Amino acid sequence: MEVIIRPTPERAALLTARIIAAELRAKPDLVLGLATGATMEGVYTALAAMHRSEGLDFSHCSTFNLDEYIGLAQDHPSSYHEYMRQHLFSRVNINRSRAHLPDGMAADLDAECPRYEERIRQAGGIDLQLLGIGRDGHIGFNEPLSALRSRTRQKALTPATLAQNARYFGGDAGKMPKRALTMGVGTILEARRCLMLVVGANKAEILARAVEGPITAMVTASALQLHPACRVIVDEAAAASLEGQDYYRWIFQDECEWGAYRDDPSV
Ligand code: GLP
Repeated sequence: MEVIIRPTPERAALLTARIIAAELRAKPDLVLGLATGATMEGVYTALAAMHRSEGLDFSHCSTFNLDEYIGLAQDHPSSYHEYMRQHLFSRVNINRSRAHLPDGMAADLDAECPRYEERIRQAGGIDLQLLGIGRDGHIGFNEPLSALRSRTRQKALTPATLAQNARYFGGDAGKMPKRALTMGVGTILEARRCLMLVVGANKAEILARAVEGPITAMVTASALQLHPACRVIVDEAAAASLEGQDYYRWIFQDECEWGAYRDDPSV
């Protein structure tokens, strides 16, 4: 695992977008795993800007989102389908037939899960998986005690997640779906590379548990410690509780391919 600390949330999102863009340029038919949440908005805005100003081309890539609520129509304002349309898909030249999310409205939800996994396999597997972290340490919607080998499946959301995401439902957790379809921890760990973005003081404690604590199903992001190619990009506020801060800064400056850009405000 590699931890990169950037001065601000904006710079953390920008570097995340730059890394995605570099991968996309190196492999135009990249299979990209995507995430939702407020943290990702800056990444998608930066990618859209690179599409406009630098001609960043999404036309050959495929995308697979981590998760979707069960029972929300695709055009529901709080669905992840709608989030992705608004923040990324409508702003770049992606081929929508290759932009996949789990179907939370599927008539047979249990059949939808292996179908989603099969689509990932048919695309050749995920090259780069973008991830955020929930306040309870979840990746995707892999809530505490999710098996670390779990696959795409239905998952009941915890009260903590309902409280965290209620803001997208007019502040009323009662209006939120209580279940979601999510890639499993095992599915995520099969991505060739993982890129987790975490910003803000309210994520500092859970980030430290995920990165430096024991691997535990209570904090499913901690399973990323098992991944051979996982980068975690954080801002100063989120980094505040990390014991190894000085070491991570040293590695970034002296060893990381992106370290040379550390004073470049566009990265
Ligand atoms: C949701 C998503 C997660 C995401 C999390 C964090 O729960 N299922 O994939 O990481 O939100 O969201 P935010 O960036 O808004 O804190």
